[in-house]
Amino acid sequence: MTEATGLGGARTAPSSSAPEGQLTLGERSLSLVLAGRQRHFHYVWLRDNSWAESDRVFQSSERKLFTPAIPATVAPAEAAFDPQEGLEVRWNDGQRSRYSPGWLRKYDYSEAPRSGRRHGVTLWGEEGIDVPRFSHADVVNTAEGELAYLDAVAEYGAAVVTGVPSVEHEVERFAETVGHVREVAFERVHNVRHDPAGYNVAHTPGELKPHTDLPSYNWPPSIQLLHFLTNQTTGGESTLVDGWAALAELRAQAPAHFATLCRVPVPYQLFSQDEDTWAENPMIQLDTDGNVKVFRFSNQLAQPLSIPFDEVEAFYDAYRQLGGIIDSGRHRATFKSADGDLVTVHSHRVLHGRLPYDPASGARHLQDVYMEFDDLLARRRVLRGEHKPLAAQPAGETREGR
Ligand SMILES: [Fe+2]
Repeated sequence: MTEATGLGGARTAPSSSAPEGQLTLGERSLSLVLAGRQRHFHYVWLRDNSWAESDRVFQSSERKLFTPAIPATVAPAEAAFDPQEGLEVRWNDGQRSRYSPGWLRKYDYSEAPRSGRRHGVTLWGEEGIDVPRFSHADVVNTAEGELAYLDAVAEYGAAVVTGVPSVEHEVERFAETVGHVREVAFERVHNVRHDPAGYNVAHTPGELKPHTDLPSYNWPPSIQLLHFLTNQTTGGESTLVDGWAALAELRAQAPAHFATLCRVPVPYQLFSQDEDTWAENPMIQLDTDGNVKVFRFSNQLAQPLSIPFDEVEAFYDAYRQLGGIIDSGRHRATFKSADGDLVTVHSHRVLHGRLPYDPASGARHLQDVYMEFDDLLARRRVLRGEHKPLAAQPAGETREGR
């Protein structure tokens, strides 16, 4: 076992020449050279993530230790590193914890491993993409096929599944295969076909400009499945636009406009005879890294702005420029969906629409349901076997006498 070197010193600078396993204790954190990289861990973080038996509910991996009860003065009374066993600490509150080398590498929160863990996406270029296509039989019958489909939705924000049986409510069955249906007001399975009495512009045969559905919820559905039971009309091609690519273009051209759309709340509403949905949020919501997380774009559902007088023209200037990008044909895929095609979009990112069609030229009927992107990502982690947390030390390990 390699004993700790140095006590109470400042955090050491990263050094590739430091010997493997070198452990240095500082005042509030330690550093450890592991797999050729110097890694830094705060004492409070290590104590919080202890897998000592009395700190965990092992059957569920949940934390038993009450984090706010950890004092700011938490520190090791002694610590040592062993290449096989890992980091062993006896804390100044008497607890003994062990952190395996694999666990320390997996949860290292230095910048490089953190950025490697971020969910990466591929934005569509100006020419759009050929939306990835998968056969229904592969997706529902094989783990590889399902995983390939989920990977495509995660990376490109869209995928087409072909050969889905043209049976009513098949889209609901498909949704339950890869996740769960998100219930909303209106129908659980929504029908889109020509309906002169319909409550939505989708029920007309006119052009449907690219949009995201239901920004009239504070958390709009993040996945939409559109199943074409039949599509025999002239016209009516599907149009998908990568909204995040459009926003990247806006951000590069006009950062002030981008910031305006991150700031100004826009009310959206969709209602029917018996139902109503209404919510007011900025069109762009960022994550803590400054990347777009949620994009709301529905020209048809926007309601009168209620914002400070001086913000009004700034909003319309920004919206005009963004709308021009979305309407430009850039970052767009246009394709004719065939009978049995099921289009999936990550609808916090990709806008969907359609070109006008002639309702006299043939039948057109699709059914759609909503889901949550979180559930698709969860399904992907389960299929990859990544969903169970790694224990830092074995269950029931007795530290006494070591
Ligand atoms: Fe829609």
